[in-house]
Amino acid sequence: MPAVRLAVISDIHIDLNGAPVLDALCARVRAVSPDILIVAGDIATGAATFLSTLLALKSCAPELLVVAGNHDVWTSPKARLAGLDSWAWLDKLLPALCTEAGAHLLDAGPVVFGNVGFAGSLGWFDLTMREHLLDVPADAYRTGRFGAVMWNDHRFAHFDDGQGKNLSSEVIAERLRDRLSAHLKGLSTSRVVAVTHMLAWDRQVARRDRAGWSFVNAFMGSLRMGELLQADPRIELAIAGHTHIPSDHRIGRIRALVSPLGYAREWRAPDAVGAVEKALAVVDL
Ligand SMILES: [Fe+2]
Ligand SMILES: [Fe+2]
Repeated sequence: MPAVRLAVISDIHIDLNGAPVLDALCARVRAVSPDILIVAGDIATGAATFLSTLLALKSCAPELLVVAGNHDVWTSPKARLAGLDSWAWLDKLLPALCTEAGAHLLDAGPVVFGNVGFAGSLGWFDLTMREHLLDVPADAYRTGRFGAVMWNDHRFAHFDDGQGKNLSSEVIAERLRDRLSAHLKGLSTSRVVAVTHMLAWDRQVARRDRAGWSFVNAFMGSLRMGELLQADPRIELAIAGHTHIPSDHRIGRIRALVSPLGYAREWRAPDAVGAVEKALAVVDL
């Protein structure tokens, strides 16, 4: 009899994928009967859909742990005028919505179930995953533009520096990594599961021989996040998302699992039921 059964998924994008996906996911979660459902970010853009999604998911699993994804902290110029930058989404609005739904937002702090601690973070990209041989204009990684490619976090995420300017991606990544480091230090369990939205290891990045694809890989995560996780000997499982390409690697003692649902156009399944069945991973700790 396993001590703790986890069901794991990420990138469900319910605002784009729609309610049938949520119904399929709930049915699948009930079928595998986990103790804890973990959703590693990119749940839904927009507060109302984020909340209704969490409420639905919480009704089909005893415990629901989530981290924010980049899509979950997107804002707009109008919202920013009302004080709602991406820090406010991450530190105020999302924690309130999670509390309302009975879910745990790991960005806000770690939780313990039995003898296992769970710590997590949105994480951010710091360009350490960029392809160094790719010939792009000097400014491209700062603007998110390269040819016809536009990385949307540069348009819709705004982590304010306190003076109306967006912080650099490296500073955002460093701040969020420092927060996760503090959360890990606060855990006294001998076993830890880490959950990040963005990737932590190069092996999780899908490399393709296409310039646009290669450019976007710069925005997949942070190798320094991987260094932080590897330095903690208690971490046995590290869950991530963000890329919509699944992977399951052994990195030293850590199982590094990415099990995204992704967008309907990316599914290699005929329908939502099949896509959810493929994507939802079950881990018995
Ligand atoms: Fe995503
Ligand atoms: Fe993402």
